[in-house]
Amino acid sequence: MLSVSTLVQALVLLPAIASAAKEKFDYDSLSLREVGARNTLDWRIWLEKDGEPISFWHDIPLYPDESNQQIINFYVEIPRWTDGKVETKRNEPLNPIFHDDSQGQVRFVESVWPHKTYPVLYGSVPQTWEDPNFDHEYTGYPGDNDPVDLFDVSGIDAGYTGQVKQVKILGALAMVDDDATDWKVMAIDIRDPVAALVDSVQDLDKYRPGLAKAMYDWFIYYKVARGKSTNTIVGGNYVNATFATDVVRESHEYWLDLMRGRTEAKKISRDQTSNPEWRETYVEKKAATRKFKIPKKSRVEPAARKPEKYENWYHLDEQFRLIELPGQKKA
Ligand SMILES: *[C@@H]1O[C@H](CO)[C@@H](O)[C@H](O)[C@H]1NC(C)=O
Repeated sequence: MLSVSTLVQALVLLPAIASAAKEKFDYDSLSLREVGARNTLDWRIWLEKDGEPISFWHDIPLYPDESNQQIINFYVEIPRWTDGKVETKRNEPLNPIFHDDSQGQVRFVESVWPHKTYPVLYGSVPQTWEDPNFDHEYTGYPGDNDPVDLFDVSGIDAGYTGQVKQVKILGALAMVDDDATDWKVMAIDIRDPVAALVDSVQDLDKYRPGLAKAMYDWFIYYKVARGKSTNTIVGGNYVNATFATDVVRESHEYWLDLMRGRTEAKKISRDQTSNPEWRETYVEKKAATRKFKIPKKSRVEPAARKPEKYENWYHLDEQFRLIELPGQKKA
């Protein structure tokens, strides 16, 4: 039987346990474990904390400070001015970053004039999920089964794959791609000199004129050069920062349901190292390398060459139709 003193002890300990769980996330303890050659299917980057692997998707907290939900964490998959379709590996343990492929070939985006490659930093919002199990109210389409995508319009550095940073939400595009909801949140690195001056897409227009419009268009047409149709943006404009912040919070709730096993999950690895109370998915990070047969340390090989055609520029007409010359092949 439980003695009164044990019970008292347990009660005294409770707040300590709760505060340990809420312990501040130490960003300085993060590092990367990179293995293989870039531009190949086998290349991977894992996120490490204190030298042990954790999940980009499930282990980085969404909010650096929950009392200000306009500022969120973001991890970079595609640095600015690069074109490899680098993404989160949803279905591998601890969700490393990898180079996405189509029919066995690594993918790149085509450069459409006047832009070359991705004009902004691009990546995912941790601890969010675009739930594919129902049609979402605003778009009328189910989620695309990925974390929420975000593009960072800051001009301070081009970022690097696996970088974890804090950004301020300015708005979002409700993109529909292949009949799935695929939100693109627009945000700015809080260290950017204009970040403190801007709270909305309109504010950004004062300091970076044309940027929001250019990115709006870019998301509509960026697949056209490879022969696909344009993407649709529901509402025909950015939703405001308040709405975008709500979209992120809602997708965080879908993610919580996913992790608590309350939702059907397909092709998703839910392994995580930071919530022991989710026993089904918890792995102690010290044990993760062995358990998941992750390479023990970085082993970077020289990057493979990317196919020459991605050096080309493509041109679109005003309706975003590809300008084709006689005899010229599509991307
Ligand atoms: C943001 O957008 C929502 C939905 O369109 C609207 O209801 C709300 O008033 C807007 N908020 C601001 C601050 O403009």
